[in-house]
Amino acid sequence: FHFAAPQNEPVLNYAPGSPERAALKKQLAAFKAAPADIPMYIGGKEVRTGKTVDIRPPHEIKHKLGHFHMGDASHVQTAIDAALAAQAQWAATPWEQRAAIFLRAAELIATKYRYHMNAATMLGQSKNAYQAEIDSACELIDFLRFNVHYLGEIYKQQPYSPAGIHNRTEYRPLEGFVLAVTPFNFTAIGGNLPTAPAMCGNVVVWKPANTQVFAASMFMQILLEAGLPDGVINLVYAEGPVLGDVCFAHRHFAGIHFTGSTGVFQQMWKTIGGNIDKYRSYPRIVGETGGKDFVVAHASAPVDVVVTALARGAFEYQGQKCSAASRAYLPDSMADEVLEKLKATLGTMKMGTVEDFGNFINAVIDERSFDKISAYIAQAKKDPKVKIIAGGNYSKTDGYFIEPTVIHTTDPKYRTMCEEIFGPVLTVYTYKADQFEETLQLVDSTSDYALTGSILATDRYAIELATRKLVNSAGNFYINDKPTGAVVGQQPFGGARASGTNDKAGSMLNLYRWLNARTIKETM
Ligand code: ALA
Repeated sequence: FHFAAPQNEPVLNYAPGSPERAALKKQLAAFKAAPADIPMYIGGKEVRTGKTVDIRPPHEIKHKLGHFHMGDASHVQTAIDAALAAQAQWAATPWEQRAAIFLRAAELIATKYRYHMNAATMLGQSKNAYQAEIDSACELIDFLRFNVHYLGEIYKQQPYSPAGIHNRTEYRPLEGFVLAVTPFNFTAIGGNLPTAPAMCGNVVVWKPANTQVFAASMFMQILLEAGLPDGVINLVYAEGPVLGDVCFAHRHFAGIHFTGSTGVFQQMWKTIGGNIDKYRSYPRIVGETGGKDFVVAHASAPVDVVVTALARGAFEYQGQKCSAASRAYLPDSMADEVLEKLKATLGTMKMGTVEDFGNFINAVIDERSFDKISAYIAQAKKDPKVKIIAGGNYSKTDGYFIEPTVIHTTDPKYRTMCEEIFGPVLTVYTYKADQFEETLQLVDSTSDYALTGSILATDRYAIELATRKLVNSAGNFYINDKPTGAVVGQQPFGGARASGTNDKAGSMLNLYRWLNARTIKETM
């Protein structure tokens, strides 16, 4: 059996007057009119604890979208038990049948629940329609279809057999359960982290960020409708330490698939290391943990290309992509012109709710993020060494709104050049155009992260030099584009250093981590 290489799911544009826009608006209104009561899904059953947490759109915090039922240690334990109970049968299920379930889920999103997924992502995570479409529809569908294809390719990899011997490799699932911990910022990552191991025959406990529960629970329902057997993926809501205490102490903890902060990932790794003699097998630890992503413009770059890369790369989805441009290096030959045009471009971007499709900028995810990001801006405003070029205002009266903010610094190690802010803040440093090579060195040494970065240039020598000098500075490196928007199947995504284990989401490299190979030699 063979699953042909898929094509990327086409992106709908929700143009004014289009039937897609009308359908999406209808779904947004429906979600707003009927508050949701969202259970956990353990062993295929809905579990309600009565300990509810409200869900509110970050851009309209006075409106209640619904609530979810928070679990405790006993629910995490029940989820592990349900996963382990499902394990033997799922591992024995023929691969084609496992694959069919995930392909059916992709089809259900594409044809039946696209507007549900997008509206949930828009309201729950404050993404505009276009950003939601490329995330909770296209990228999620692509993860499912491409991973099925890649896994089929892996299963075909077999060793050489000389005469008289039949060698073969079985790609078995891991023994035990995999824990998936997913972030708020991409519904598609929420979908990929539990399904990639599950596709390989593993059973999973999935804990999404509280701020992703609205969309995550919808995807869970789609998986069940697609025929996912009870217990294969179990969706629980729990505080991080509670989850960790139960999962990381379990003998059958087999691995973690994580996207989130560096601090949390390192803490988890330490706990897992401390418990290493408890486990039946060495757990697989796979994590993507953030970035301080750069854009370097060379003097040969067209000004408009630089402006667009910065405006979109830094401010789409309010800069809350781990890939978002957050530090820029401009040659003095063009810096003034770029900053002036960037300011003008940002001035045309409207900020507000997601229901007004004319708004490009929406709210940041929650009060904690708002407070952290606005503190960086407040400090920069007071600092005589830096200048606010654009934006700088913020308010949390109606929602967590922060203007796209550009800071200019003459200190290349100023704190907003180094620290991950995870919001709509771009810091710009101007370098002397004849010091391009020294600047590349600075780009590499300024941050511990190595997720994404861009070189903008028409000069081939500059492109070649940057590609070589920044060889370890970004797992996803862009020539003449913004550093965001990796497409599944086209640009496998992930970074090393403090950005993660670089097991490229949506690729064979990632799927190999969830397989436990058995080599069999049979003498004829
Ligand atoms: N994969 C997402 C991007 O590339 C994070 O922007």
